[in-house]
Amino acid sequence: MMDNQEIEITLLLDAMRLRYGYDFTGYARASLTRRINKGLEESGFSTISELIPRIIYDKDFFTNFVKHLSVHFTEMFRDPEFYKTLRENVIPYLNTYPFVKIWSAGISTGEEVYSLAILLKEEGLYDKVQIYATDFSDIVLEKAKKAIYPKDLIKRSTSNYQEAGGKRSFADYYHADYESAIFDRSLKDNIVFANHNLVTDSVFGEMNLILCRNVMIYFGMDLQGRVVKLFSDSLRNNGFLCLGTKETLDFSEVKKNFVTLVSGQKIYQKKRLDECRDAE
Ligand SMILES: C[S@@+](CC[C@H](N)C(=O)[O-])C[C@H]1O[C@@H](n2cnc3c(N)ncnc32)[C@H](O)[C@@H]1O
Repeated sequence: MMDNQEIEITLLLDAMRLRYGYDFTGYARASLTRRINKGLEESGFSTISELIPRIIYDKDFFTNFVKHLSVHFTEMFRDPEFYKTLRENVIPYLNTYPFVKIWSAGISTGEEVYSLAILLKEEGLYDKVQIYATDFSDIVLEKAKKAIYPKDLIKRSTSNYQEAGGKRSFADYYHADYESAIFDRSLKDNIVFANHNLVTDSVFGEMNLILCRNVMIYFGMDLQGRVVKLFSDSLRNNGFLCLGTKETLDFSEVKKNFVTLVSGQKIYQKKRLDECRDAE
């Protein structure tokens, strides 16, 4: 038997899925419950049952509520060692291709994709890449497209950039006014921003590199399994998959399709199709 709160949460998740197609049922339940309760507190309603009709009838209210259900923390060159490894072990390999397709999934406000763009420019690869930068939140995607960030974050971003093996001065990539750092428009040249929900939307085909970092950490095991299958299906043979430091392919069915390139950094390379069949 479910307790009252579990029943209310189940009804809320069903309402959001049926009305808007946003499916949170596969997210790790304990942390999702905490975030729902935080959203409830800020909504002014006292129970989830009171909140549900408002969610159903008021799309703006729903969009705002969804903000509470996801964690959007990100930063430039987050986990600098990861970007250093990418620069040294993956980029030289991709540089042997005439054209490279990259998918950065769950970009939040965009710092991840601009870090990647900077790195690709410095390694002479940017002009032959197409980057698809996706998230399921239109609110963060709009911020990502602007590429304007609070100036007080620049100190931290600069030190991450340097630790990640940055080759120039980080200041070359933005200009600052009183409050903000506005990033160079040319970083956006080869980036397509799009809304994509990893739970309900389909594959992005023929990728050479996929980054999905610090997103699946909020998913339950079954959902993680489905999403890494989506990534496996979206990658070309020998394509690379990069997860966050706390994420892994270890428990997934598709692990056999990959070799671990750098385990500490969770960088995996997809085997060729014949090698995948041999592993079955
Ligand atoms: C913690 S941020 C990670 C940002 C960046 N990848 C990084 O590592 O710094 C997680 C992002 O995943 C997005 N997200 C959560 N569930 C998603 C889903 N089902 N489909 C697409 N994006 C999702 C959230 O909107 C949020 O922006």
